[in-house]
Amino acid sequence: MESTERFAGRTAIITGAGIGGLGAAYADALASGGASVVVADIRGPQAEATAEGISAAGGKAMAQEVDVTDEASVDAMVQRTIDRFGRIDILINNAAVMFRFLDEPRTAFWELPLAEFELVQRVNVTGSWLCAKAVFGPMKRQGGGKIVNVSSNMALGTDLMWPAQMAAYTTSKAGVIGLTRALAGEAGPHGVTVNAVAPGVTNTETVGEHIDPDRMETLAQSQALRRQAWPDDIVGTVMFLCSPDSDFMTGQVLCVDGGFVTH
Ligand SMILES: NC(=O)c1ccc[n+]([C@@H]2O[C@H](COP(=O)([O-])OP(=O)(O)OC[C@H]3O[C@@H](n4cnc5c(N)ncnc54)[C@H](O)[C@@H]3O)[C@@H](O)[C@H]2O)c1
Repeated sequence: MESTERFAGRTAIITGAGIGGLGAAYADALASGGASVVVADIRGPQAEATAEGISAAGGKAMAQEVDVTDEASVDAMVQRTIDRFGRIDILINNAAVMFRFLDEPRTAFWELPLAEFELVQRVNVTGSWLCAKAVFGPMKRQGGGKIVNVSSNMALGTDLMWPAQMAAYTTSKAGVIGLTRALAGEAGPHGVTVNAVAPGVTNTETVGEHIDPDRMETLAQSQALRRQAWPDDIVGTVMFLCSPDSDFMTGQVLCVDGGFVTH
């Protein structure tokens, strides 16, 4: 039987783990498995709320306000993690902005402001690289580590209509896949795995604020598994990528979207 403490002695940083999103669910699951977790988010109070919930349930958590696009801020997060917990074993690059992806009606690429396109790349791609760069030194010194990047099924589909009018977001999530493959090749010889998860549309607070329930149900009916997704539907795959069970895979993307197919 699997131990409930499969992350005992491990320290994990989860970016974008403010309360109400997928990152908070990953932090909860890692802490339940015995990990010390750093709940990092640009929204400090939301990070505090996630960390307080974990501590109240008996887990080990520290909140950290961070802007993943700012190298000094990311380095400070890593240093504080080492100071507090002494090591870093797991990084989940979950922080992201979705912006136009979540706006209804969405915006065509020829109307998208340059600043917005660039901001989405900066948070979703550059931010993931900066965090990976910052944790790599400690992981290498420890002899290994696990980096999990968060992509999206939008970057994988062959259907050209599903990612329509989501140019900035879809491009960034494809960039995350390229980043995953590039880092995996370089980090592998040092015992660090780099994999990605590509969720489909999932009920989180952010999604709930921007996509109405009817549209969520329509999307669910486009999946082989015809029900809406919730954070718990994604957590198991991410925990697999964080755990020793995935120690011999790297550079891979696991899509968790209920078998999304557009008609
Ligand atoms: N929910 C979905 O339908 C879905 C589908 C596919 C992929 N994803 C991906 O899963 C992840 C989580 O999505 P979510 O639905 O929980 O959204 P969310 O908005 O709750 O989570 C994103 C978090 O990132 C934080 N963030 C934004 N910019 C930041 C920065 N510069 N520095 C640090 N933190 C920053 C936000 O404050 C937020 O808490 C994202 O990477 C998203 O792209 C979500």
